This record gives sequence, structure tokens and C-alpha cells, in this order.
Amino acid sequence: MEISLDGKVALVTGCGPNIGSGVALALARYGAKVACNDVEEPAIKACIARIERNGGEAMAAPGDVTDEQAVQAYLAAVLERWGRIDILVNNAALLGGRGVLDESAADFERAVRVSALGYFLNTKHAGRAMAERGIRGSIVCISSSNAWSGTAGIIAYAFHKGGVNNFVRAAAMDLAPYGIRINSFTPTAPNPDNPELLAEMARAGMGPGGVLTHGRPGGLGGPTGDEPWRRPSRWAGQRPPMVPMGTTGTPSDIGHAVAWLCSDYARLITGTDLVVDGGARAKNFAYMPAPAGELAGPVPLIELDETPRAGPGTG
Ligand SMILES: NC(=O)c1ccc[n+]([C@@H]2O[C@H](COP(=O)([O-])OP(=O)(O)OC[C@H]3O[C@@H](n4cnc5c(N)ncnc54)[C@H](O)[C@@H]3O)[C@@H](O)[C@H]2O)c1
Repeated sequence: MEISLDGKVALVTGCGPNIGSGVALALARYGAKVACNDVEEPAIKACIARIERNGGEAMAAPGDVTDEQAVQAYLAAVLERWGRIDILVNNAALLGGRGVLDESAADFERAVRVSALGYFLNTKHAGRAMAERGIRGSIVCISSSNAWSGTAGIIAYAFHKGGVNNFVRAAAMDLAPYGIRINSFTPTAPNPDNPELLAEMARAGMGPGGVLTHGRPGGLGGPTGDEPWRRPSRWAGQRPPMVPMGTTGTPSDIGHAVAWLCSDYARLITGTDLVVDGGARAKNFAYMPAPAGELAGPVPLIELDETPRAGPGTG
């Protein structure tokens, strides 16, 4: 038996080069036609080009996920071109931010708005398009490990990602009568594997791990003040091994799992969360696994991107 999304149409929001592009590519490799949304035109173009050079079919769905008219317009364009929508992946979000003592009201509101309104409006209008056509589709909301436990320095992110998890449970109740499923997927600091992003990170002097934060101050644990009363919020020394299987994986690992979750094999899975993290979330806080180099590690990744990898830091 082989998992196939042949004949299905998908929309992925926020198809930037990391997780959104990885999930969009996976859905295409499993056979879906994929509409690629973003506010950044270059991100859409790069995602479409990546899908096409890997043999898939894609279209642009440009627009701000928080703008209801824009959401309705790009969904109408998808329906006009392909006649249906079977899969929605709510992925667009703003990473980074600051802690509760430092976050600004404007940045807090903006981050919550993109996530809350974006996930709601796309679910509402894609859900309606599915229900009106009798399509028993699948919606996946990208959450975060920061939705399940606390990290210092990202108070807005923690707030809206926590909201995603219960949004999914409630929306699952609204959509169940129509046979439409909605689940969250929890990425846990995946290691980017898009060859173009790896090259961009190498140019920026970053290693293969890390998070590029587009348009938000700081990464995880963003900037704080330097008043004399300040206390450090995190361990600054060398980090012990954190992941029982040695790696949290890549956007391709996420893509395989999301594609399966959107397939008919998962027909009764709704209102729940899927995590692919080598056991990181299951781990007790006091338990430190052995270093990755001493572990058997997972079986090799089944690659989705056939683009040749080249250049420094991309091997
Ligand atoms: N990178 C990680 O380590 C990590 C870990 C856990 C969860 N996540 C989640 O995975 C998802 C993708 O993360 P990523 O690292 O690929 O992020 P990213 O910043 O690389 O991509 C997000 C994309 O969303 C787009 N976007 C932002 N606002 C938008 C709007 N209003 N309308 C349409 N598009 C908009 C951006 O232009 C960008 O291309 C997010 O939901 C993030 O919270 C990421």
C-alpha cells in the first residue's frame, strides 16, 4: 500500500523556505497540486520553482493571511483553477519576539494577529469551500513545542501557539459533521534541509541549525534591557544532549508526517496533535540522553528534494 494524495488540492500558508516550503514540497511529492501562499512574492516563487523542479504542480496564492478579502480571493483563484480544495496547512506565523518584561504591545498584537486571524480565516473559508462541495478534507495547523511548555523570551509566540492547540480541538468539533478533519502538527526546532535556505544561512555565517526570523526582533529569547536588576533567563553554558534519538529531524520529516495526516489512511484522526521530534517532548526534564554520536540514530531520511546540494556549509 502506498500513500498517495493524487487528485487532491492543497493550500499551504507562509510557504517560506523552511517548514512551509518543506511541507508544500512533500504534499506535491505525494501527488497533490499545491497552492503556495505568502506575503513575500520571492518566497512563493522559490516554493513553486522547488515543487516544479521536483516534478510537482503548483500555483501562487499571494496575500496576507489576516486579510479576509485576500484569503477569499486566493481561495477563489485556487477553486477557479483546480475546482476543489482538499488540504489546508496553516503555517504562516511570526517567529522570534521578546519575553513578558520586554515585549511591546505592538509586536505582541502583530504576532498574535498573524497566527490567530490567519489560522481562523483560512480554516473558515477553506472549511466552507470543502463543506459546500461535500469534500471530506484535512486541515493541519502548524503548532510548536513552545505551545506545550515554556521558553523564556517569546511571550507572544507562546500565547498564540498555545491557542492553536485548543483552536484545533474546537474546530474539530465544528468540522466533524462534514467529515472534515483538523489536527495540529508540532515542529520541534527542525534542522533546515532546503538546499537554497542552507546556502542562505551559510552566507549569513550560520550553521545548519538555527532559526532565521523574518521581520521580528531577535530569535528565541530575544533582546532584553540591561538594567542592574536584570537576571539571566537561560543557561549560557554548553548545552547537554536534549533529544533521545539524537535529532529533531528536518522539514522533510515534517512533510512526510503531514502528507500522511492528510491522506485517507488518517480518515478518523481529528482534534489531535502529531509530533516528529525524536522523543524530545516525551522526555522528562531531568533526564539527559546520551550524545547523538553514541546513539544508533534514526533510519536514513527519505529525501523529498532532488535538487543537488552544493556550496559551503550545505553538505
Ligand atoms: N523554525 C522552527 O524551528 C519552528 C519550530 C516550531 C514551530 N515552527 C512553526 O513552523 C511554521 C513555519 O516556521 P518557519 O521556521 O518556516 O518560519 P519562516 O519565518 O521561515 O516562514 C514563515 C513564513 O510566513 C510568512 N508570513 C508571515 N506573515 C504572513 C502573513 N500575514 N500572511 C502570509 N504569510 C505570512 C513569511 O513571509 C514567511 O515566509 C510557523 O508556524 C512556526 O511557528 C517553526
